[in-house]
Amino acid sequence: MWDSCCRCLGVKSAERASQCEEAIFHAVTLSARSWRKNPRLCFGERRNQAIARTFKQSPPMLIQRSISRSLSFHRAITQMKTASLAHNSIIRHHSYFPIYSRRFFFLIPQSLPFPMSTPPFGSFAATGKESKQPIAALLQVGGVKITKDDVVRENDPANNVPDAIFSKLGMQLHRRDNHPIGILKNAIYEYFDSNYSGKFVKFDDLSPIVSVKANFDDVLVPADHVSRSNNDTYYVDAQTVLRCHTSAHQAELLKTGHSHFLVTGDVYRRDSIDSTHYPVFHQMEGVRVFCSDEWVDSGLDGTSYAAMDLKKSLEGLAKKLFGDVEMRWIDTYFPFTNPSFELEIYFQEKWMEVLGCGVTEQEILERNGKIHSVAWAFGLGLERLAMVLFDIPDIRLFWSTDQRFTSQFSEGKLGIKFKPFSKYPPCYKDMSFWISDSFTENNLCEVVRGIAGDLVEEVRLIDNFTNKKGMTSHCYRIAYRSMERSLTDEEINQLQGDVREAVQSKLKVILR
Ligand code: DAH
Repeated sequence: MWDSCCRCLGVKSAERASQCEEAIFHAVTLSARSWRKNPRLCFGERRNQAIARTFKQSPPMLIQRSISRSLSFHRAITQMKTASLAHNSIIRHHSYFPIYSRRFFFLIPQSLPFPMSTPPFGSFAATGKESKQPIAALLQVGGVKITKDDVVRENDPANNVPDAIFSKLGMQLHRRDNHPIGILKNAIYEYFDSNYSGKFVKFDDLSPIVSVKANFDDVLVPADHVSRSNNDTYYVDAQTVLRCHTSAHQAELLKTGHSHFLVTGDVYRRDSIDSTHYPVFHQMEGVRVFCSDEWVDSGLDGTSYAAMDLKKSLEGLAKKLFGDVEMRWIDTYFPFTNPSFELEIYFQEKWMEVLGCGVTEQEILERNGKIHSVAWAFGLGLERLAMVLFDIPDIRLFWSTDQRFTSQFSEGKLGIKFKPFSKYPPCYKDMSFWISDSFTENNLCEVVRGIAGDLVEEVRLIDNFTNKKGMTSHCYRIAYRSMERSLTDEEINQLQGDVREAVQSKLKVILR
């Protein structure tokens, strides 16, 4: 068993072998809870895919090995194993809701040996630059003019931003008062305004083009964290990314002296395709800093005081949005907070994660001029909450310009229930190919989206096997469906033909 693990790393020593085992064990055990909660979407899944890529083995095999390491984790890991198997076979778990942050900052295996330099541009970056939609050449974001050439750079090997993503840059759904995302943002703003008498400064027009430093280093994301990979993040160039979370602005705003702020914005992540995943979504970040005289009289230390205030504040917010629901706090891990928590509410008969938060790491505060202070921070995904609050079944709908969608929402009206205007039938097309070493599902999805745009509803692995020669075949089922009209056979065949061609040429796979 170990031979195969270490051979694939090109390292044979026993020491390395045990390091590998440690890394896997660490990753697997840490991710057990997230996986259990949402096998389809949590960071653990990503990490295990990444581990599998590293070790050229499938997650179930890795998990199998870790089972022998600890009986106390046996149950959780068995559940993960089932989840992983399900993911890799036809039975994929469909959660209606994406995790608010979808994956990145949970439960990081510090010891994972990702084969990455910084920034990690591997050979697997697909560009997926083709797009059928006309793309504007100039956008205005945060008062700054951005041309397509600033963001989509054919000649920079580090660049992996496709045209379709550039076209989303100036959209700013969160700044439209009649749009569900804007309505939700305003409701949260209202909550903070009325509870903190306008103390929170609001930012919703900060450019999503940020430095790698701001996006990762300044919030202490480890150098080997999976989220830095170009499989997961859109790189404009080696030092610049499309922010993958609104936490990217924390340091900068603290440094400029802000102590109470909310940042809302579009964030970008390379991802799989289904009804809850879209490569662009919206987050809101909140930060509150306390100076020592605010907590001395409480009898608590600064951290406990901030944690108490944080929980009180966010419970109030959840009540405002969801009514009198049952809530629970779950300990978790984020690189930028300690302790870190997730808030879950019991809603529509299940526990649903609402946000992630915690007490800001002292290092972040001190580096940014907040000495003798403590702070709390939270981050929440607006689509995830809006899908629940407005009953929106497919994340692509947020981008619809169809009047039958847009006219259903109006300013200040949180919780109007979306009435589907019609449901057109999906059309399924399968494609099988032998994968290459560098193949990743995110790259495939990028290529498919580049061709089919929002007509692609889902890309799902339905078969996966390795032959005696060690070649691995994947079969993906692509669901095409428009939310606005019926698609003709001819149109779909054309799309599928173009997808096949692009997948073959861009991903170095062999079609079967
Ligand atoms: N940035 C995190 C993500 O995208 C969300 C988050 C979690 C933000 C905890 C925070 C926080 O400020 O304290 O996954």
